[in-house]
Amino acid sequence: MASLAKGRHVSIDLRRMGNANLRDGHSCLMDLLMVAISGIFLFLPALLPNSAAVLFGGGTPVDFGRTWRGKRILGDGKTWTGLIGGVSAGTSLGLLLAILTTALDASESWRWGLGLMPIGVVFSLSLGSLLGDMAGAFIKRRLGMVRGQKAAGLDQYDFVIGALGLTALTYPGWLWAHYLDGEAVIALIALLVFVPLLHRSVNIIGFKLGKKKEPW
Ligand code: CTP
Ligand code: MG
Repeated sequence: MASLAKGRHVSIDLRRMGNANLRDGHSCLMDLLMVAISGIFLFLPALLPNSAAVLFGGGTPVDFGRTWRGKRILGDGKTWTGLIGGVSAGTSLGLLLAILTTALDASESWRWGLGLMPIGVVFSLSLGSLLGDMAGAFIKRRLGMVRGQKAAGLDQYDFVIGALGLTALTYPGWLWAHYLDGEAVIALIALLVFVPLLHRSVNIIGFKLGKKKEPW
């Protein structure tokens, strides 16, 4: 009798444990999904500058038309108005979202730091994004590619590397905590998967609106 009761007790415990595992598995997946989404959210100040540069561009080239070893340094696709407009747009969006997340008392995983730190972080993400884009253009020109010529990989990731790279220099702790440390690496993977898809969609829209000469 005692052993029967014991057996029943054990089986109930096992069932409970099974449910707990299922629940844990479910919440774990949800956690990872949230890490991925917050990683993309925090990267918005780096995502906007590229599209904004297309709208603001058209003025004096950053390299002032100068060449190096017979080829343009950056080319006509990188302009001062694009650079300044893009960085301003990305930083403004970042500051707006920083104020919003502070007002909503959002958890640290949705924040660019506390106090005045978001100013520096969102500025680093925005400026780094367009510095990376210019580094990409510099490499393309050295390879003899004309403005707008497709460079698979470089076009999609130059600004991601620039944004993460500059922020790694200015706010290493923030970057480590949000994109590299433990399960935060899911946020980095989400970026690497999501960014080319977004880049392509935005460029198709820009092309259809007549703002971009090529749909990539
Ligand atoms: N743009 C700009 N200034 C910048 C970045 C972009 O004016 N600093 C504008 C340009 O009009 C550019 C457009 O945004 O043509 C799209 O940017 P991107 O696709 O990066 O440039 P491409 O035209 O493809 O030129 P490149 O081959 O040099 O990358
Ligand atoms: Mg580019």
